[in-house]
Amino acid sequence: MDEEILQLLRKHPSTFHSGEEISRRLQVSRTAIWKRIRHLRSLGYEIEASTRAGYRLIQSPDLLTPSEVKSSLKTEWMGKVIHYFTRLDSTNSKAYELATRGAEEGEVVISESQEKGRGRLGRNWFSPPHLNLYLSVILRPKIPPHQAPLITLMAAVATAEAIEENTGLRPLIKWPNDILLRGRKVAGLLNEIKSETDRIHFVILGIGMNLNMDEKMFPQGIRSLATSLKRELGRTISRRDLLSSLLQKLEEWYAVFLKEGGEAILRAWRSRAQIKGKRLKVTSFGESITGTGVDVDSDGALILETRSGERKRVVAGDIEYTR
Ligand code: BTN
Repeated sequence: MDEEILQLLRKHPSTFHSGEEISRRLQVSRTAIWKRIRHLRSLGYEIEASTRAGYRLIQSPDLLTPSEVKSSLKTEWMGKVIHYFTRLDSTNSKAYELATRGAEEGEVVISESQEKGRGRLGRNWFSPPHLNLYLSVILRPKIPPHQAPLITLMAAVATAEAIEENTGLRPLIKWPNDILLRGRKVAGLLNEIKSETDRIHFVILGIGMNLNMDEKMFPQGIRSLATSLKRELGRTISRRDLLSSLLQKLEEWYAVFLKEGGEAILRAWRSRAQIKGKRLKVTSFGESITGTGVDVDSDGALILETRSGERKRVVAGDIEYTR
């Protein structure tokens, strides 16, 4: 019922809707409406109430409820079904579970916070409530499993573009899929795949983005390595608007990938990653190699050239820019 009341109030935001009108439309008592309004206020909705005129929506909180997100979402199919939680262990784990039970392409899991947010290579992802974005998108691409890393590169490009669209800042990508602003990580992607030898069942695109955390909120260990959009811009960013852009960009870039193939994705990725010619140190499976960045290949692997001129191909790991 909250959803229906909000829809009604949102339709004509500046006008009052009488308690009688709302109770008639929703076919419940006026006391029941009043109770729901009180509940909505406790969630942060600012609703003006006048005994004579009725109710008027003044301001909505920056929540990521399906109703809030849908009020600004312009996608055709992505995010049309949103599974919303105030708390979860990990949106990726929940999305994996839902996909295993048949959830469809484009369904999205969003949580206001995560208790066990997961990062790449077994790390944690710091996920305090109501400040950032934590989401997982279910995709079911009909591509061979070896092309799945291209979906990761595609998602990194979409994430960087969504940030740029909302802030005017130009994020760079650090292989494989860290999103950086002034050299500090602002967003990360953890993508998981369920497949057979020749067929993908589904891909879970897990995206975490730091929006409104202040510097002092970051745990000591990552304070100098990580950043948030607020820290970079000096102002708060609407999580709802950023999420809408992100889903829009993902939908657009996924369509490009399915229609034009990996090369279009690689071109966009390369221009944001600027890996060519950079001195790098790569740590992969406990081993470090230094060299100069050459490219990423069509499977998303990093190619680098060592001092002796030997070309190495790295499929997983972390890089550090050494100059
Ligand atoms: C990284 O290590 O850079 C990847 C971080 C990915 C974090 C996101 S937050 C939403 C989704 N759910 C998770 O548990 N992890 C990803």
